[in-house]
Amino acid sequence: MKKRILSGIQPSGQLHVGNYFGMIERMVNFQEESELLCFIANYHSLTSLSDSKKLERNTFEAFVDLLSLGIDPQKSIFWVQSHVPEVTELAWILSNFTSVGLMQRSTSYKDKISNGLKPNMGLFSYPVLMASDILLYQSNIVPVGKDQKQHLEMTKDIALKFNNFYGDTFIIPEVEIDKNKDLIIGIDGKKMSKSYNNTIPIFGKESQIKDQIMNIKTDSAGLNDLKDTNTPLFQIFSMFLSDNELKTLDERYNTPGLKYMEVKKELFEKVMDYFSNQRKNRDKFINNPDDVRDLMKLGAEKARDIASKTLLKVKKAAGLI
Ligand code: TRP
Repeated sequence: MKKRILSGIQPSGQLHVGNYFGMIERMVNFQEESELLCFIANYHSLTSLSDSKKLERNTFEAFVDLLSLGIDPQKSIFWVQSHVPEVTELAWILSNFTSVGLMQRSTSYKDKISNGLKPNMGLFSYPVLMASDILLYQSNIVPVGKDQKQHLEMTKDIALKFNNFYGDTFIIPEVEIDKNKDLIIGIDGKKMSKSYNNTIPIFGKESQIKDQIMNIKTDSAGLNDLKDTNTPLFQIFSMFLSDNELKTLDERYNTPGLKYMEVKKELFEKVMDYFSNQRKNRDKFINNPDDVRDLMKLGAEKARDIASKTLLKVKKAAGLI
């Protein structure tokens, strides 16, 4: 049987090339050899966003962005989390198998609070809802970044506890830590992240993409000096290059006469060219919101088919039916 891979993405604004090369590109490729389940985690966003218009818009745009980048709702199962209400019902059941001590040790919760988020129960039980996402769909593999590793461990803990009480009910998922995800650096040399404002947005305006590229931090090497490749401009550019192209760029860095400005112009053209089909796709979807809603509905129906079966099994096991 094909392995089932599940991934949830919070709708948090403009996707950037770090998101793409860190995760999305791999998910798009997974669709060929595995069964991909992918959803927009809007219930998770609700833990820290109470602007309804903004949540709705972000959710819609995140769905469109991923469609445009190649998540295929026919081949895969692609939906909006809140469109399948079974997930919250399972989360309640699972919360009875979740130790408070375990939740209190959540580093992600502690980080969020120290960054000023209000400590509400949604934020506190965030990992239970995440466990529910994963277990409801009986996922085999969950690829995440390092920051989500602890959540996955909590999921396993909860699933094992439930299985111990009631017999094998849930598949215990394998965690796949995506090393790439933490390696992609932004225009200032720090990790590329929306919160540092150092990204190159995939679907931003042309002028915005250009500005960000022109602002990539470079060193003060003179025209005839050899250039350091362990720098943001080279590293960002390298994600877009084939092995041969990368070799050529590397040689240019190691030959006197290279101008950073020229490299930046080339990078700008490369980025625009690389995502040109995806940007056209996106315009098409944005102008046809009803088509997008139909695809959301299709995804929710497919997801619900799996969700309702698991939930029935769980409720029978726990004596709730
Ligand atoms: N917490 C994840 C993040 O912020 C998003 C997410 C929600 C998720 N549910 C999930 C990821 C289930 C993987 C599986 O990145």
